[in-house]
Amino acid sequence: MDSAQETRVTMEEITALAKRRGFIFQSSEIYGGLNGFWDFGPLGAPLKRNVKNAWWRDTVELRGDVVAFDSSIVMHPQVWKASGHIDVFHDVMVDCKVCKHRFRLDHLKNRAQCPDCGSKDSFTEPRNFNLMMKTFVGPMEDTSAVAYLRPETAQGIFVNFKNVYQTARKKPPFGIAQIGKSFRNEITPGNFIFRVREFEQAELEYFVPDDGNDMQVFHEWVERRKGWYSNYGIKPERLRFYELTDAERPHYAKAGIDVEYLFPWGWGELESIAHRTTYDLDAHMKLSGKDLQYFDEANKTKYTPLLIESSAGMDRTTLTFLIDAYDRETSVDPNGKNIERVVLRFHPQIAPVQAAVFSLARNRDDLVERARNVESGLRPHFRTQYDEGNIGQLYRRQDEIGTPFCITVDHQTLEDAAVTVRERDSMRQDRVQADQLETYLRERL
Ligand code: GAP
Repeated sequence: MDSAQETRVTMEEITALAKRRGFIFQSSEIYGGLNGFWDFGPLGAPLKRNVKNAWWRDTVELRGDVVAFDSSIVMHPQVWKASGHIDVFHDVMVDCKVCKHRFRLDHLKNRAQCPDCGSKDSFTEPRNFNLMMKTFVGPMEDTSAVAYLRPETAQGIFVNFKNVYQTARKKPPFGIAQIGKSFRNEITPGNFIFRVREFEQAELEYFVPDDGNDMQVFHEWVERRKGWYSNYGIKPERLRFYELTDAERPHYAKAGIDVEYLFPWGWGELESIAHRTTYDLDAHMKLSGKDLQYFDEANKTKYTPLLIESSAGMDRTTLTFLIDAYDRETSVDPNGKNIERVVLRFHPQIAPVQAAVFSLARNRDDLVERARNVESGLRPHFRTQYDEGNIGQLYRRQDEIGTPFCITVDHQTLEDAAVTVRERDSMRQDRVQADQLETYLRERL
């Protein structure tokens, strides 16, 4: 076992913390929950939003060559015919004839024994199971009204390729990016929010001319994504970029790299980066009969661009940030006593709360008012929270939700206008003039 795995948090600890502190709840919990669906609470919603914003910032806003997009979840069923999802987007499943539980064949360690009830040779013959979720559009519930919830956001971009390049006046190489919900009727959802039935994807579709530079662009995107994970503090020893072999890649893909993280149960895919050739645009042109080629006005030529895709699951990435940030440490307090604390060492841009402001006493109106004023003064600049009470408990709570700075207004503040600022990781404490707080935090966040 490598060192990265030895000190790992368990999934039980992560799910308990996520529930206790209001990150993630089971969907429809009061009715017993619904397998594969989760709700993000008052801390989980900002955590996931920060992860998405960090992706968006790096993939769209900081580049001059990527435009934004937001397509509908339900699209014309022909989209899924052309993309191949109707015909080949399935997993192979088996049922146990005794306990009636259903399994993905490739997830079974032993195909001769049911892992749930232990029955021997109780599985049905393997069958294909399509993963798309079906619905009906309009008042009729017949086959002509069948539609699907998208299993990936990418197809919305492909079918709009011409609309986008013409209106945004873009010429390959350029990209189209979107973040949105996708749905897959997974046979066996599990590992908390890792494999779910409703999730969010952040997808970049980058179109390049067939001029011999396509593999270089593919590797540039791999490097950019590596840089992103590293900038936001994901431990490099828990991240790997796995190059798919010829046999593992879909037939149309020229290259493929999976970004994988070492979760407590082992390596799991976070993102796939693929060179998808002209496959998607070709497929839609063939079925729709519409021209989706790029027309180059300058030299009056037409061509189908090649496509480099980066597709990351935002729920899995959020889970990765939670797990990667988790730390349990023992330290010695000023009285020589051992204290244990759980701390989420989030990157400041990812942390749901960046600065918590406390009044040392709940029953002193002057302190409470001063602390509330400090908090409201910082609120336009940072993600803040106000709290009051026992300082030890307040620190423990903020450590557990990953808040980088805690600011305490105490009796001394009323005399010298200074507050105590405590840094999460080092637990170092500084005395800072209240009117200097914004600058102090800005330099450190
Ligand atoms: N457009 C390409 C595409 O969808 P994918 O490898 O099927 O590729 C991309 O999915 C990413 O979406 C995965 O790496 C994963 O992070 C996320 N994802 C896929 N299925 C998921 C599920 N059931 N639950 C959570 N995330 C999922």
